[in-house]
Amino acid sequence: MDCAVKPLIQDVLPVSDEPILESDGIEIPDYLETYYWWAYVRPWAVRIFERDWLINLILWGFYEPLRDRLLAMIGDKVSGRTLKISCCYGQLEPMLAARVKAGGGTLDILDVAPEQIKNSRRKNAAFIEDGTVTHYHRNSNDLGFADASYNRAIVFFLPHEQPVTERRKTFTEAFRVVKKGGEVYVVEFHKSKWWHPLRLIWYPVLLVLEPFARDLWTKDIATWLPHGGLGCTIEKKTIFADFYQLVKITTPK
Ligand SMILES: C[S@@+](CC[C@H](N)C(=O)[O-])C[C@H]1O[C@@H](n2cnc3c(N)ncnc32)[C@H](O)[C@@H]1O
Repeated sequence: MDCAVKPLIQDVLPVSDEPILESDGIEIPDYLETYYWWAYVRPWAVRIFERDWLINLILWGFYEPLRDRLLAMIGDKVSGRTLKISCCYGQLEPMLAARVKAGGGTLDILDVAPEQIKNSRRKNAAFIEDGTVTHYHRNSNDLGFADASYNRAIVFFLPHEQPVTERRKTFTEAFRVVKKGGEVYVVEFHKSKWWHPLRLIWYPVLLVLEPFARDLWTKDIATWLPHGGLGCTIEKKTIFADFYQLVKITTPK
């Protein structure tokens, strides 16, 4: 055996106890600490934002429609291995876990911020208990899972928060771990109709609060996929006068 070969991170134990999260060598990325510390990184941020009505309000009343449409795209009974790349507030994860359980599958949820993992563990306690859900403390740019080991991956409002290099790495990793013919689901902002009133109100605010989000309004999602999504089948639905997009990308067989 070549001793220099690094074991896959999945060969090491998944997160089991909260205290090890802060000392396992996986650091909060600079962009997250600089721009999103107040939303995801601090324990009090979780206490403020883990409210369905607040998340729904932040997404202009569209968290629930987006969540429900994504779940409808994925299906009522979800078999095989599903990977959720980063946590999110609200009930998406438990609702997804229930569908995964109904389909006899498993759901792995990862995040780079320890507080997010802890919060997600609380929300999904029943599904952890019955073996449906497992959490991993990981950076989306270096997942550490084996190639082609998942049937599908879900990326919910993560790309717009990442600088372009990190965004590309996230998609490269998502496509690496999903099997041939598997799916990558993306829910994100999208370039809205020119007359959309939020273009005037919301875009300038987001430019300050979310400095990497602009790309999602000006470029197609395929821009950041490996090889521009060559060979993939890309099915895109938009809602709220194109303000949001739900994309199902099926990888080539
Ligand atoms: C999915 S996004 C946005 C979710 C959305 N605003 C919501 O809650 O409805 C936020 C999550 O991405 C995580 N995140 C950001 N960069 C990451 C990275 N490089 N690797 C893993 N997780 C990351 C943050 O810690 C946070 O939990």
